[in-house]
This record gives sequence, C-alpha cells and structure tokens, in this order.
Amino acid sequence: MCTSRHLESSPAMGKTIVQMSRKLWLLMIIGACLIVAQYQLASVWLVTAPSTISYEHQSAPVTSASVQAIVNKLQLDTSIVNTVGEKVLREIALQMGQQMLEVCEVPPLSHRHSSKPSVQSNAFQFLPPLYIITPTYRRPEQVPELTRLAQTLMHVPNLHWLVIEDAHNQTTQVTELLQRTGIRFEHLVAPMPESYKKKKGSKPRGVSNRNKGLQWLRANATDGVFYFADDDNTYDIALFSEMRFTRKVSMWPVGLCTKFGISTPVIHNGTFFGFYDGWMAGRKFPVDMASFAVSVQFLHERPDAIMPFKPGFEEDGFLRSLSPFDPKDIEFKAENCTKILVWHTQTKKNEPAAKLDIAKYNNTNLVKLRSLIV
Ligand code: UGA
Ligand code: MN
Repeated sequence: MCTSRHLESSPAMGKTIVQMSRKLWLLMIIGACLIVAQYQLASVWLVTAPSTISYEHQSAPVTSASVQAIVNKLQLDTSIVNTVGEKVLREIALQMGQQMLEVCEVPPLSHRHSSKPSVQSNAFQFLPPLYIITPTYRRPEQVPELTRLAQTLMHVPNLHWLVIEDAHNQTTQVTELLQRTGIRFEHLVAPMPESYKKKKGSKPRGVSNRNKGLQWLRANATDGVFYFADDDNTYDIALFSEMRFTRKVSMWPVGLCTKFGISTPVIHNGTFFGFYDGWMAGRKFPVDMASFAVSVQFLHERPDAIMPFKPGFEEDGFLRSLSPFDPKDIEFKAENCTKILVWHTQTKKNEPAAKLDIAKYNNTNLVKLRSLIV
C-alpha cells in the first residue's frame, strides 16, 4: 500500500521502475539464451572416459530453423524490442546462432563438397585417431549400405575412413558419396586376386581390401586405433568411444551372429573364460570381424601381421598373426562384454536393375537415375 501510494505520487519514478523491469526481463531472456547456447556448445565437447559407455557428443540438433525461432521469440515481446531495438536483438541472436551452427550443424547437401561436419573439425585432434577400414564392392546395395555407414561415422570425431573397393577402379558414385560426408577419407582399390575369384564355393571376401588398409596404415599412421567395419553391419556410435583408447586389442560382443545370435568373449568373475560363438571350428579366436579393434602402435610392432585368404578363418588368422598376443591380453569393452553395440546385419541381395528402354525414356530423369544404380 505504502509503495503504490508512493508510485502514484511520483509518475517519473514509476516510469523508471517500468523501464528497469523491462531491462531486467531482457537480461533474464538473454541470460537464458546464453545458458542454452553454452549447453549446446559444451555438450559437443563431451568426451567419454575410456571405460564407460556414452556418446562422444550428444547435442540436440541445432538448425537454422531453431536459430530463427530464437530470433522470433525475442521479437514476440514488443516491449523488449522497443527498449533495446530490434536490430540489437537480431544481432545478438544471430551471432549466438552462428556459433551454435558452426559447432553443431551438418551442412546442407548442396554445400557438403567444401564444408565438414563439426565432429571432424580440428577441435577433436586431442583424441587418438580412429582408422575405420571398410571393404566394399560394386553391387545394387553398395551405395545404400555406404550411405548408412557414412551417416553413422559422421557422428564420430577424429575419424579417418579407409574405404577400399574390391575393384580395379574407384566407383564414381562412391567417391561422390564420400566427398559429401565431410569425413576424412581415403578411397582405395584392392581387387580380390583372380585365383580366388574363380574358385568355387566360399571366397575370401574383403581380404585384399583389409590388407590394403593395413598397408596404408603402416605407411601413413603413427598412433590411434584401427577397426575393420564391413559396409553392411549396424554400428551404435557408442562403440567408437569404447574402442578409442585401445592399448593392444580390444573386444566386445557382436549381435545377430551365428546360430547363437551372438558372438562374444565369455567373462567369468571379471576374467576371460573363453569364447561363445556358433562356429568354433578349432579357432583360437572364434570371433567376428566386427568384434575387435587394434592399436596402430601394436600393429607397427608386428610388421608381419596380415589377414589370410582363408574363408571363415580371416579373423582367427589375422589375430594369430598379431603374435605375441593371447586372449589374456584382450581389453574387454562394452561394460565387460555385457552390451551389444554392433550387429552383423545382412541386407537382402537384389538383382541388378532391368535395362532402361532408352528409345522410350530418352531426355527424361530416368537416364540420370539409371546411371546411378547397378
Ligand atoms: C562375414 C564376416 O563378418 C566378414 O568380416 C568376413 O569377411 C566374411 O564373413 C567371410 O568370412 O567371408 P559376411 O556378412 O558373410 O561376413 O560377408 P560380406 O558382408 O558379404 O562381406 C564382408 C565384407 O567384404 C563386406 O564389407 C563386403 O562389402 C566386402 N566384400 C564382400 C568384398 O569386398 N568383396 C566381395 O566379393 C564380397
Ligand atoms: Mn556382412
């Protein structure tokens, strides 16, 4: 009561208080925006401890639309706009948004040739690099498989993708796809030797590709970790945090693998007990290709390590070639092999597409589309 009477008796003072409360409101809104912005930026910098499962960066997607929404929200309160001026507000919101976009946003399709997604920026060079070796070959499913894998790997910082085709020449569609991702990559070729190609029965799939990857690492990599990631598997991005700090060889379970539905090391009371896999076949390391990662340094110390052209025994042969290396040396990841972070998914095979009736469809979009597919 006393206050209102005071206000009534002093209109100038009343105006000042109203102005002050508007400024207070403004400060609060800007403060809130800054907190949101800081959260967005900070979350991108989240780096996991080596032994825990979590995502290397978890941030709500920030888009041009969300920046525009901030600008619009600030404009809604006309009293604020009147007090500070639309231009200043717009400037603040846009500058904040710009910073957020630079850190978070994957560039639109039309710009992806030149720009890189944030996770590939220099900001993450303090992490040991991950070298992902992917064998691939030309078939109707190749581009869709690589698209899915690329868009998984685009979430992983400080990654170098070695895409190695079982072919004599690079496939243009693959090169174009790789360029659009913004991922640091090498596009190499390593055809399966003719002698194996001609052989009846199961073939050593992806072996010449993976050995080419090892050769590239020996010549170009000094530190970090490498992983053989087939183009058709499904990967949880948390897997890449798990393998990042591998000292020698790390391992984890693989889902959808063999008749057991899973292939994994067995851990009893925290120590190695054996392997669980639907196809043991006398292997010392009865595991899937997707189940282990190796330190680059460890590879350098084993100049003879190589993958054999032996269908079904590629993993075992390679891991044996890392000698001296025994199951007791394995670093178990994915919470002591209790989580599944990769699946041996297999895509249904498709027949090559029918020939296009050029007489009928000349000068239509079908000509371009048909050139893209197998
Ligand atoms: C399973 C394992 O997961 C593979 O790592 C292993 O190489 C293979 O068995 C084997 O022992 O032969 P699977 O799903 O049966 O894999 O094989 P694919 O996915 O067909 O091939 C494995 C990788 O090699 C893929 O990335 C694929 O693109 C590539 N590949 C396949 C070639 O480069 N050339 C081929 O002719 C076939
Ligand atoms: Mn496969």
